[in-house]
Amino acid sequence: MSNFFSPISKDSYIFAKKGNPLFGTVQISGAKNMVTKIMTASLIATRGKLIIKNIPLIDEVFITLNLFDQLGVKYKINPDKSLEIEPGEFNSSRVRFATENESNRISLLLIVPIISRFGEAIVPRPGGCKIGKRKIDYHIKGLEAFGVKIMEKPGFLHMKLGKKGLRGSHFRLPFPSVGATENFIMAGVCAKGETIIDNCAVEPEIIELIKFLQNAGVEILIHGDRSIYIKGTNDIRLSEVVVIPDRVETISFAAAALSTKGDVFLRGARQDLMITSLGILEKMGAGIEVKEEGIRFFYKGPLKPVSVATDVYPGFPTDFQQPLGILLSQVKGRSLIHETIFEDRFGYLKVLNPLIVSGKRFVVGKTCPQGTRCRFWGKKRPHLSEIEGPVRFGEGQIYISDLRAGFALLNAACLSDGIKIYNLGLLFRGYENPVGKLKSLGANIELIR
Ligand code: EPU
Repeated sequence: MSNFFSPISKDSYIFAKKGNPLFGTVQISGAKNMVTKIMTASLIATRGKLIIKNIPLIDEVFITLNLFDQLGVKYKINPDKSLEIEPGEFNSSRVRFATENESNRISLLLIVPIISRFGEAIVPRPGGCKIGKRKIDYHIKGLEAFGVKIMEKPGFLHMKLGKKGLRGSHFRLPFPSVGATENFIMAGVCAKGETIIDNCAVEPEIIELIKFLQNAGVEILIHGDRSIYIKGTNDIRLSEVVVIPDRVETISFAAAALSTKGDVFLRGARQDLMITSLGILEKMGAGIEVKEEGIRFFYKGPLKPVSVATDVYPGFPTDFQQPLGILLSQVKGRSLIHETIFEDRFGYLKVLNPLIVSGKRFVVGKTCPQGTRCRFWGKKRPHLSEIEGPVRFGEGQIYISDLRAGFALLNAACLSDGIKIYNLGLLFRGYENPVGKLKSLGANIELIR
């Protein structure tokens, strides 16, 4: 892990405690869930050079670059946070993760670039956050429809292409999965003929992937019913792409600031990427001022509790519920969060419960709210939380359970009598310099390496 952006050991921890309200300006970094997708999509091209601007300095990028090293892809990171990739001559069809901690979901997105070049690919099963079962059945079925033969082995996937190569397909996703949509878009580009994918996810980062491919010369269009049409081509022209600001980092800092009754300006944050989430914060009574260069979030009086259900875009994103959960813990009254995307994403509330020294413990239930039924209805998954604020967090130590929980726990620690947070690798996978940024806003926080 020595070349990671955030070198830490297993004993490293972050210590934070209650301080002044957060106040000041921070720069929002490029979106984690866009940059790695553009990186892998660039490998479809067989010549040219891509420059990705505004990359976030996060370990997810390094984990992906470690995979690039194994493939033999040429790349260079510049001091201005741009990444140059020359996909022309990569020379291996096999990759693996160095350790389980260094695994992510990106291995799935390497299948198409590798197999379309070599006719065969061996990639590790994806890792990533443990927030539910995270099955890969859509990926498997969809790729089979494109003509990929898949042999599932313990720990890895071995794939081969038949004599006809990748062929265009008409496939309907059972659920608008982000990763599967991205995978099939790439397969559609590399396949012979036309592809239609129905019931796609349309998160902003996917739209950016589509824009990138369109600019590279691909005939691709989105219909109003979430179906995407792609005409296969091997003429991909790489140039430049700029990574959009990270929506999840934005909401994480907004929630942290509001929970301390603060006032922050998030430079680079974009309203158009987060309409629903801004609407929820507005409904709660938060101060929001949208400016050309970013968004100001400020406390302007007592906030109100809310009930939200996470949903596919443009609904309220699952990645936002963890920052929101901590904010709601400081709001007087009873709030509900119904998690309908991942069936087990309330680990952060469970680890915080023992540290509550005044106020009610968080309740995580396995049913849907009365009168509603989501995909997890009747399956006894811990996907409904009841948060009754305000609560006060005392002293203690906790372990981060997943990436977004990581920042939520930092936020909780910044409201506490003093909490040590361990297992920082997960946090640094997705947030650029979170401690430095919180500190610059006045938080009482230290990283002890
Ligand atoms: N699903 C299946 N089978 C599949 C694929 C997905 O059942 O083959 C299910 C999942 O288990 C889940 C739902 O479909 O219940 C949605 O999963 P999706 O495939 O959309 O998630 P993902 O592509 O694995 C990406 C982001 C997540 C984000 C989700 C939802 C990346 C690298 N990850 O995951 O981001 O929460 O979409 O928006 O893009 C994060 O950044 O911390 C993070 C977890």
